[in-house]
Amino acid sequence: MLQINNLHANVGDKPILKGLTLSLNAGEIHAIMGPNGAGKSTLGYVLSGRPGYEVTEGSVTFNGQDLLALEPHERAAAGLFLGFQYPVEIPGVSNVQFLREALNAQRKYRGEAPLTGGEFLKVAREQAGALGMDMEMLKRPVNVGFSGGEKKRNEMVQMGIIDPALAILDETDSGLDIDALRTVGDGINRIMRKPDKAVLLITHYQRLLDYVKPDFVHVLDGGRITRTGGADLALELERDGYKELAA
Ligand SMILES: Nc1ncnc2c1ncn2[C@@H]1O[C@H](COP(=O)(O)OP(=O)(O)OP(=O)(O)O)[C@@H](O)[C@H]1O
Ligand SMILES: [Mg+2]
Repeated sequence: MLQINNLHANVGDKPILKGLTLSLNAGEIHAIMGPNGAGKSTLGYVLSGRPGYEVTEGSVTFNGQDLLALEPHERAAAGLFLGFQYPVEIPGVSNVQFLREALNAQRKYRGEAPLTGGEFLKVAREQAGALGMDMEMLKRPVNVGFSGGEKKRNEMVQMGIIDPALAILDETDSGLDIDALRTVGDGINRIMRKPDKAVLLITHYQRLLDYVKPDFVHVLDGGRITRTGGADLALELERDGYKELAA
């Protein structure tokens, strides 16, 4: 589904990704761990096409398409979703408005009919309910005044509504309380654990992986993948840290 080959990318003049190679097949969940500043969020931004991130070498194909040739909105319409490490607040735009516009823009791009207000609200209600989010929060401006954990939960409600083919989730577990971690983990499984979907799960902690069982765990260090293993690699990292690994 996603093939990243020898990817190099700069932020400004600073090289951050330095020859990153990674492949995800449909039906797989991959976890990425790695020290602060390694380039994990940068990878998410480069894949989603955030301005300011310049690819200097390498290629990325997504379902056979040249991903890097697409505009950010085209990438989203093609089925790519990014859950932000730090979700942005959008004052003046209600969550429901925002999500309905986003979903219908993507549907239009794919040649599908837009959902009516009533149809959309039904989907939104289902997804918010499954993730334990109050409908009142969906009416509020996007993320404005949400607690850290509420923002993360909101990202998952967005993902449930958009229903992407590939989700890159950047530290979706950070800031969640113990019960919310389970709810979000269950949500990721319910929405994304499907034969035609894939997930790239960026996390610092093994605990999310107790709920969302990864098929592969990768270490991203210094802008490239330095190690790949199974779910047990996360336990090993938790025990020994990254320094031990490098030694
Ligand atoms: N706009 C920028 N200008 C300069 N340096 C930047 C910029 N954005 C990112 N960087 C640098 O790129 C490196 C990688 O950052 P990135 O956010 O990808 O790390 P990360 O692996 O996600 O870390 P964390 O685990 O702390 O979230 C860091 O050293 C960071 O300071
Ligand atoms: Mg990060």
